[in-house]
Amino acid sequence: MKENRVAILGYGGIARSHKSGYIRLQEEGAPVKLVALCDIDETQFTKTVTINTGETSSEDLSAYHLYTDFDEMLAKEEFDTVDICLPTFLHKEYTIRALRAGKNVQCEKPMSLSSADCAEMIAAAEESGKKLMIGQCLRFDGGYVALKEYLDSGKAGKVLSVRCERYSAMPRWAFEGWFHDYSRSGGEMHDMSIHDYDMIRFLFGEPKRVSAFGVDHEMKEQVSHAVMQYEDGMLVSVGGSWGESSTFPFTFGIHVTAENATVIWKNKMTAPRVYPNEGEPYDLPCTLVNYMAEQAHYFARVIAGEIENTTNPPESAMQTVVLVEKLKESAAKGGAIIEI
Ligand SMILES: NC(=O)c1ccc[n+]([C@@H]2O[C@H](COP(=O)([O-])OP(=O)(O)OC[C@H]3O[C@@H](n4cnc5c(N)ncnc54)[C@H](O)[C@@H]3O)[C@@H](O)[C@H]2O)c1
Repeated sequence: MKENRVAILGYGGIARSHKSGYIRLQEEGAPVKLVALCDIDETQFTKTVTINTGETSSEDLSAYHLYTDFDEMLAKEEFDTVDICLPTFLHKEYTIRALRAGKNVQCEKPMSLSSADCAEMIAAAEESGKKLMIGQCLRFDGGYVALKEYLDSGKAGKVLSVRCERYSAMPRWAFEGWFHDYSRSGGEMHDMSIHDYDMIRFLFGEPKRVSAFGVDHEMKEQVSHAVMQYEDGMLVSVGGSWGESSTFPFTFGIHVTAENATVIWKNKMTAPRVYPNEGEPYDLPCTLVNYMAEQAHYFARVIAGEIENTTNPPESAMQTVVLVEKLKESAAKGGAIIEI
């Protein structure tokens, strides 16, 4: 397989996790190589940043070419793929610029601030003939992958209800405090709960009707409760929060209630745990991989033409943004039920 040479654009909080993923891939001998980093703020190259999931990274960037201007990087660097780790309000602009410059694009989630933007990004990918993938990284997380395999196997029987949670303090590390500006980040539902909305679609497809409520405090919809109902009556709830105290650890979880078993997957667990109606509880077979590495490796194989992108196509990431729009519409109407 041809080597995929990658340049990261935006070297803030999440880019450090991406860099760790690329280091891991190189150690494993995968044909993926991080060659350059670009950030308009050169102090980012010497800083350690801690994000809500607690990851930090000290900086030895001597292996990479560093840029503070995207056009200069495009002109001077030889590479195949831009890994966009910019604030969300810049995703559309830079994705389209990179595609038009002949680069493949892996862009962080959320795909963009509106589904109309997402459609433009997909059209630009089609016009350019280059590949686009959005970083809905939980689709590559070993725990969720094991859960999906188990539910798809039918062993759990009919799923009656799913409850998801994702809680953190307000993200405070970012560029110009952009997370706090609803018009730039879309708020907590658009930025963080989107992981659960996307995972629910990945596991179960589209809901039939939705309703959501938000609590406006330091920012609009800082805390949210969303409910989705499926055609067969299955109910899903997602609780999201950027309202936790600064000392409260980042928390996520999914709890599945099915005919034959209850299954849970939460932070601090090493595998999803099945509590069957018959027999003893057990852990699902699960390898906890570095999901940023898995995601980047998967995209390299898509670019090389080795596989079709069936796990995480950009059209699906766009549909997740459509779902966020429906949930926000409901929240704006005081929890009104919105048919999908
Ligand atoms: N997958 C995940 O779990 C996850 C977690 C956190 C953030 N994210 C997403 O990743 C994206 C980035 O978030 P973050 O927390 O890293 O933000 P951040 O503010 O920490 O990092 C963004 C970086 O982009 C740089 N930048 C801004 N404008 C630029 C430009 N024009 N050219 C080059 N650099 C520029 C900033 O200086 C900053 O270093 C967001 O879309 C966010 O939603 C994803």
